[in-house]
Formats: sequence, structure tokens, C-alpha cells
Amino acid sequence: MKEWTREERYRVLQSPDEIRDLYDRVQTSPWRQRYHVQPVTGLSSDPNGFALHKGVWHLCYQWCPWGAVHGLKYWYHVTSEDLVHWRNAGIGLKPDCFYDNRGTHSGSAISDGSDLIFYYTGNHRDEDWTRTPYTCAAILGADGRPRKLEKPLFGPRDDYSEHQRDPKVVYNAEKKRYYIFIGAQTLDKRGGVLVYESEQPLSGWRFAGQLKVPGYEAFGGMWECPYIVNISGKDVLIFSPQYTKLPGRGESTNHNVYLIGRMDYDTLTFTPDGPYRHLDFGFDFYAAQGAANVGAADKAILIAWIGLPDNHYPSEEEDWEGSMSLPRELRIRGGKLLQTPIPALRGLRGPELEPDGTLPPACELEITAPAGDFDLNLFTREDGTGGLRLRYDSANRVCRIDRSGMDLRFNTQVGEALDMPLDAPLRKLQIYIDHNSAELFANDGAATFTTHVYPTGREFHYTATEGVGVRLWPMSRSVTDEFVI
Ligand code: FRU
Repeated sequence: MKEWTREERYRVLQSPDEIRDLYDRVQTSPWRQRYHVQPVTGLSSDPNGFALHKGVWHLCYQWCPWGAVHGLKYWYHVTSEDLVHWRNAGIGLKPDCFYDNRGTHSGSAISDGSDLIFYYTGNHRDEDWTRTPYTCAAILGADGRPRKLEKPLFGPRDDYSEHQRDPKVVYNAEKKRYYIFIGAQTLDKRGGVLVYESEQPLSGWRFAGQLKVPGYEAFGGMWECPYIVNISGKDVLIFSPQYTKLPGRGESTNHNVYLIGRMDYDTLTFTPDGPYRHLDFGFDFYAAQGAANVGAADKAILIAWIGLPDNHYPSEEEDWEGSMSLPRELRIRGGKLLQTPIPALRGLRGPELEPDGTLPPACELEITAPAGDFDLNLFTREDGTGGLRLRYDSANRVCRIDRSGMDLRFNTQVGEALDMPLDAPLRKLQIYIDHNSAELFANDGAATFTTHVYPTGREFHYTATEGVGVRLWPMSRSVTDEFVI
């Protein structure tokens, strides 16, 4: 693995010409995605600024142009009319002022109908590398590029640690107020959420307090990327707690969880109805963000980073890494989230294929489960060995997914097998495969499992226990992947 100096990681991009060769090289990778948003060069991580504005979906991702490394972060901007076909729109935000001299870090967006406003963390560092995070804003200009406000909306609080970032903005119609939720860490290193409020989106911001979440006063050391949304009258709090291990999640210390409950904006208390749950049971799913301005009371639309902090992936050798997940619709059923791929994805299906044991590099599989235990092995070699191996244990209603059989193994230190527990017997699996990812939706979205996977030239077969129903469609291209900077 390449060792990066700080200077290399934090180099400012002066001209697109500096990364054109890298772009050309990255384009030749066998792992470039066909229908997932991916970095134009270098690294993509968190989804940012996800909103519907004047009929267009805007999405940005944390972007480091130079390679697969967490260095100087830009926002790279993509747009779509249907959440399926995405165009590269160029740099959204660049670190070019005092307040964000070491990165435009994660944040969100909201449309008031006439303006699309972005909120982000300006990651300032001084010469001693001491960090000061500012909450900053930008407005989408007529040319389709965000324009930054000159001054931040507010700076950090000194009664919390330097970890105060990832503003998620929401408008509360009842209160006629905007709220910003900030992921934070207390001075004694416990994770939490800070709440700010204002009647105006771009001025008058005041600190309202730390969100109280009874039972979660000491749950991880930092809560990254908090997001609160009301779905069908229930409030859902989604966040990415880190610096802690959680039961059933191997050695990983990065997670993405949710709570369903009630948000009281008067007392700033989120009272959970039940225990936390994992948003996704896979290896690589983090920093999920819901879109603003979805315009439906019964669902949210969510995108996550396929990848985790502190983890490393085979495409890093090619100087790029990362992918956005497919957008998914979130609904509430029986006190839990139900997550389904957005219906418009169906339009990407090519003519159905005869299941013959081979796996196109971009495809959708619909698996009908037989009664009892079964195996489904994806990306196997021709003789059926190796691959990503799924085993369903019907007595315990658990799918165990093991990636240790793949030719290219990675992040073995966090564990190579994880369980996806189910509440009901497994009937159906919908599986979306693209060149470096697999996303599984079990029982129409009752549980999901997302993983990176980097198949080699011989890993394009599958095997299944007799009785497993397999339907298979190739998927067409929906990301343009052009060099737009
Ligand atoms: C989450 C995160 C955010 C931060 C961003 C920096 O992956 O650490 O908290 O804003 O990434 O790229």
C-alpha cells in the first residue's frame, strides 16, 4: 500500500489537467461501477448535500482527487432526474478559504423552493495542525455550482472536543424553524449530537443544546453524520457511531445504526421506542444520509457510502476507491425500517437471462428461497469453489455471509463473515451486483447487507443449493463517468 505524506494528501488541486492522466488510468479498471455513483478519480466517501430541488436530485460525495486516501476533501457534485441516471456536474465545494483550508467536510442541503442551500463543515487547521471545525453554507448558483458564503454560520463550542461536524439541516414546519444537527464528541470522549436552531436558513443560528437520547449517553466515542427524519408520524434518528465495537459486528469500530422514537423539539429529547438496530448488516455501509425535500410523509430516501473509515480496499492499488450505495426508500413497518431499492431501478434491467451459473459483472438477481437451509455462492470460480458465500440457517433465521473465499481478501482484521438476522423465514433475496459491490435486500427490505467485492477474472460464476429459485437480469449503464471537474 502506498504511503502518503501529509503534503501529498493535502495538495490543493490547481487545474483539472493535474488529474487527467489519473482519470484515464482509473477508467481502465475492471472494477469501475456501471450503475453506482463513484469517484471521478481518487476517493469518494460520505454522501453530502442530498436534496431534490426544482425537479433535480443533487448529490455530492466527499472527494479526495489524488488517490484512495483520506486527505484534502472536496465535495464532488452529481445530479439526476430519477435517482438512477447520474451525470457528473464537477466540483461542488472546494477548500479555498481560511475556514476550510484543510477540507470541505460532510454536510447536507435543503431547498426552500427558490434556493438550494448547502451546509458543510469547514475543516480549518492551523500550522500546528490544531483543528477548528466551522459550520458553513453555500447557495447553488445559476451556473449549477454552489457559491460559498464568506463567513461561517457558527464556529465550534469549546465545551466539546474538536469533533463537531456533519451539519444535517431540517425544517420544522410546526415550529417554523430550521434545525441543524451536528455530530459531536464530549470532552470525555462520548458521542452525541448538538442542535442549533434559527428562523432563517442563513443567519440567526443559536445553540439550542445537546440532544438527549435516554439510554445512549455513552454509546461510542463520536456520532458522525446524524440525520433525523419523520416517517409516517414516527421519528427516526440515524447516525454513525464510532470508536466502539458492537455485538455481532466482528472487530469493526465503525457502525451505522438507527433508533425509532419521538423527537421533542421543546426539550431536545429523542425518546427511542426500542433498541438500536443496524441500518445494514454488511461489511461496508456508512455515513448514510437522507435526501431533503422528498415531499412524501411516509418515506425517506437514503444513500450511504459503500466503505468504512480506517478500512482499505483492493482498488486503492489503482489510486481510486469508494462507491455510493443505491438510493433506497425507507418506510416503517412493525416498529422497524423497511428498506427497498427505488422502483425506477427496474428500468435498468436488460432482457432476462437464462440462469446458467454465470454472473454478468452488473446484474440483478432475484432469489426465491426454498424451505429450510440453503447455500448461495456468488463470484465462485468455474468449479464452484471460493467466492462470496451465503449460508441460510433456517432454525435461527440467519444469513451468514462470508467473503474469505474471494481471491482478493481485504480488511481481514475486522472479520470476514457477518450475520444478517431476520425476523421471519427467508423467502426472497433481491441482489444488486455491480463491478465492486453487492447489495442484498432480504424479504422485501426487512434486512439489507451491503459489501464491497473485487472479483478477479475467474470469479464470475455462482452456485446454489437445489431448490433455490434464480432469476437474473443484466443491468445497463446509468452513470456517465465523464471527466468534469
Ligand atoms: C465520516 C467523516 C465525517 C467527516 C468526513 C470527512 O466518514 O469522518 O465525519 O465530515 O468523513 O471526510
